[in-house]
Amino acid sequence: MSESAATVSAPEVDGVASAGTDEIVVVDYGGQYSQLIARRIRDCGVFSELLPHHVALEEIASRRPKGIVLSGGPASVYAQGAPRLDRGLLELGVPVLGICYGMQLLMHELGGRVEQAEVGEFGRSDLEVIEPGTLLAGTPTEQTCWMSHRDTVFEPPPGFTALASSTVSPVAAVEDAQRGIFGIQFHPEVVHTPYGQQILTSFLTDVCGCERTWSAASIVDEQIARVRAQVGEGHAICGLSGGVDSSVAALLVHRAIGDQLTCVFVDHGLMRKDEGEQVIATFRDTFKVPLVAVDAEERFLRRLAGVTDPEAKRKAIGEEFIRVFEEEAARLAPDGDGAQFLVQGTLYSDVIESGGGPGASTIKSHHNVGGLPEDLEFELVEPLRALFKDEVRAVGTELGLPDRLVWRQPFPGPGLAIRIVGGEASKQRLDVLREADHILQEEIRAAGLYRDLWQSFCVLPDIRTVGVQGDERTYGNVVVIRAVTSDDAMTADWARLPYDLLERVASRMMGELREVNRVVLDITSKPPGTIEWE
Ligand code: XMP
Repeated sequence: MSESAATVSAPEVDGVASAGTDEIVVVDYGGQYSQLIARRIRDCGVFSELLPHHVALEEIASRRPKGIVLSGGPASVYAQGAPRLDRGLLELGVPVLGICYGMQLLMHELGGRVEQAEVGEFGRSDLEVIEPGTLLAGTPTEQTCWMSHRDTVFEPPPGFTALASSTVSPVAAVEDAQRGIFGIQFHPEVVHTPYGQQILTSFLTDVCGCERTWSAASIVDEQIARVRAQVGEGHAICGLSGGVDSSVAALLVHRAIGDQLTCVFVDHGLMRKDEGEQVIATFRDTFKVPLVAVDAEERFLRRLAGVTDPEAKRKAIGEEFIRVFEEEAARLAPDGDGAQFLVQGTLYSDVIESGGGPGASTIKSHHNVGGLPEDLEFELVEPLRALFKDEVRAVGTELGLPDRLVWRQPFPGPGLAIRIVGGEASKQRLDVLREADHILQEEIRAAGLYRDLWQSFCVLPDIRTVGVQGDERTYGNVVVIRAVTSDDAMTADWARLPYDLLERVASRMMGELREVNRVVLDITSKPPGTIEWE
């Protein structure tokens, strides 16, 4: 580990593991599935943190992990500048499991033979277990697994037992149980490795001796105590968007400090039908959270008048949002003191992506209307910093948040404005889009497909087409249906919605909405398209 690298600090999630629960540190070598490894370990009931491979050894040691997992990564151990193994990791006295690149690093470092195989091994592979050892105990002799590598281990280092082989990998799993060092070439974290979760569980319980007591919901009480300690007698403010992250963060903080929290919901008039009312009803009426709901529709529409360029729209909405929020925050200062704390629904994936460190908690102001500028003088309260999205949902459910909010599909901060394409987001167009979108949502929910889709929505391009309705010629709007499946919005596929559902949606739109005389389906994946049209 280089000196400069040693100064990199780890993502600030210290202590979130719920005091007293066991932790596994996943050292990230840049693999595609590194986050997934941490999530799968958590699924087994053991808290897990993902730390970059260049983090200081002391950072890892300070977590007092019960075990360490070295992730996969894109490099070859022979490549110049490839991440190296910090031998200190093997001196911490806890078991180490290398996955893919992590295994190759261990093998290379400890005197095994790692070389490039004649052919790479990508995708499903057949695994033959020669000697189950501790790691593969209880799994069948022949099983399938998921591989993604070109370098391969040909011989394990002295003292290691080869446990399994695959078509391309003579040594696809190894262990030296005495020294507590284990390796698997395949990816146990992906669903295409059917015994992957079982193998991970064996490592966690039989090898590391972890107690499986962690769950996202189990951190609620601890987070409540932390928020109380942080805020003390102070006041906190939270911008509610109706999305799951800010909703769960707000509820959790409200549990902690009650009426010392005020939520601000800015209705910019660009929400979906009834969504604003639902947010208000849930927070103000059901949960009795002090809530300031600002009806700022007119203000936003004025600001959007004549704006057609997508980025200009985003900028206008973002700036207006901040202005409204600031005004409300100032109004909330009854004694001139105001709120000192700002609640944010920052997630663990945001923490990881921003490279970690205390700086990771600076407020993101780009790409999100809910983002606030950095010069607002608040101390951040981020009770979800240790959680992945699906864990946040579990906490939301635990806190009694209605399913409708817990499972809400992502919705962009600038809302419907960026779905009115090639034209100005006027009230009239927004209303047409809102109604069309409402029909789509109703039908998708009725078909039981809402949760299967990453996002489903309508787009209203600024074009009109000729039609005939009754005996009359019409010249009306075209509505585009956009529905995608995705895991993280980085890539997406167009959803194969059933024809009869599409038929129902289209005929309802054209029957119920006077302005609409044509409905089309967007069959573009991402890449090359993006999910939104603007
Ligand atoms: P794209 O269109 O880039 O979208 O494939 C990826 C994800 O980001 C959302 N999105 C936004 N979210 N403000 C947001 O808060 C924005 O300006 C914005 N633009 C896109 C989009 O809905 C999808 O989930």
